[in-house]
Amino acid sequence: MTTQSSQPVGVFGAMSGHEQVVYCHDEPTGLRAIIAIYSTALGPALGGTRFYPYATEQDALEDVLALSRGMAYKAALAGLDLGGGKAVIIGDPATLKSEALLRAYGRFVQSLHGRYYTACDVGTYSEDMDQVARESSYVTGRTVAHGGAGDSSVLTAYGVFQGMRACADATWGAPSLAGRTVGIAGVGKVGRHLARHLVEDGADVVVTDVDAAAVDALRASLPAVRAVADTAALVAADLDVYAPCALGGALSDEVVATLRAQVVCGAANNQLAHDGIEKVLEDRGVLYAPDYVVNAGGLIQVADELAGFSFERARQRAEGIFATTARVFALAREEGVPPAVAADRLAERRMTEVGRLRGVWLG
Ligand SMILES: NC(=O)c1ccc[n+]([C@@H]2O[C@H](COP(=O)([O-])OP(=O)(O)OC[C@H]3O[C@@H](n4cnc5c(N)ncnc54)[C@H](O)[C@@H]3O)[C@@H](O)[C@H]2O)c1
Repeated sequence: MTTQSSQPVGVFGAMSGHEQVVYCHDEPTGLRAIIAIYSTALGPALGGTRFYPYATEQDALEDVLALSRGMAYKAALAGLDLGGGKAVIIGDPATLKSEALLRAYGRFVQSLHGRYYTACDVGTYSEDMDQVARESSYVTGRTVAHGGAGDSSVLTAYGVFQGMRACADATWGAPSLAGRTVGIAGVGKVGRHLARHLVEDGADVVVTDVDAAAVDALRASLPAVRAVADTAALVAADLDVYAPCALGGALSDEVVATLRAQVVCGAANNQLAHDGIEKVLEDRGVLYAPDYVVNAGGLIQVADELAGFSFERARQRAEGIFATTARVFALAREEGVPPAVAADRLAERRMTEVGRLRGVWLG
């Protein structure tokens, strides 16, 4: 999504439209968490828990505020009856994570009585959610054995693939990546599933990852996939599509200046490094599929747990990302704005139009 340009002032200034921000502290376990709820206009706020060694509390706060806002827009455009929230736990998961810490965190989630549902994110896994769920009823992303939807990266990758098909349709007139060269930066949980969809569709896939083992594992199962040394080499390569699937901020001025691909469509959250970069992409003739539109498959997958998980129902809904991406491009053309702005407008429209109905008193 497009970023907010105003400078944060104080705690309420920094909240920039958020409904609620909760600080959670349990000294014996070392738990220091922040839960941010951006909006509950469409339903309870749902978003994952990021467990990360932030350098400062301010960094953690800024991350959770931006991520929770993004979740509200993502849920709105995915057509879900959910608001947007997110949580961060400050610390190195490799050393700090314990059963007691996760359960302490679960009690704080429970204390919000369903205003916030949690899920996995960077540094947390389905097994962790099983622990959190021992203390809270408001947990998704649990393991299949515990009634959960399991690893959400399966439908995240499927949704990104659907979004990429819509990009291909808009750019080359056919909803297929056959014969196109697609570069994936980051072949972790999502990137590797995406690579498989692309190879099956007939694309030529080039990848890179800072973790050589991730590249080796992928190439062992998909030998046709090629690898390059780093992201700079990938961006400079002769690509048709660039798929950022590692961390946020992938679309910096430097990257956009060197990029040769005509389409950018990937899973990473918050790809636009700063406000205005969406316009630079458009001016360079690059079609950018807004990140939160195409990476909503994981949210769709975990949200389905709330109704008793059905993979097929969730898969069908994630398939709808093709139509949603096409709708965003159509509005962008109609209103003469970059797709990132069009996506924000569509999401805000739904939050206002459908959210307003809650003002109708039902007795
Ligand atoms: N997993 C999901 O369901 C989901 C849903 C929505 C969005 N996302 C977003 O998609 C992205 C990928 O998620 P994931 O679950 O696959 O994470 P992951 O941690 O499993 O994979 C990320 C991969 O990127 C690699 N990487 C890190 N820095 C890199 C760099 N500078 N250059 C190249 N590779 C680098 C890592 O080594 C890792 O293999 C993240 O931004 C995440 O927030 C994931």
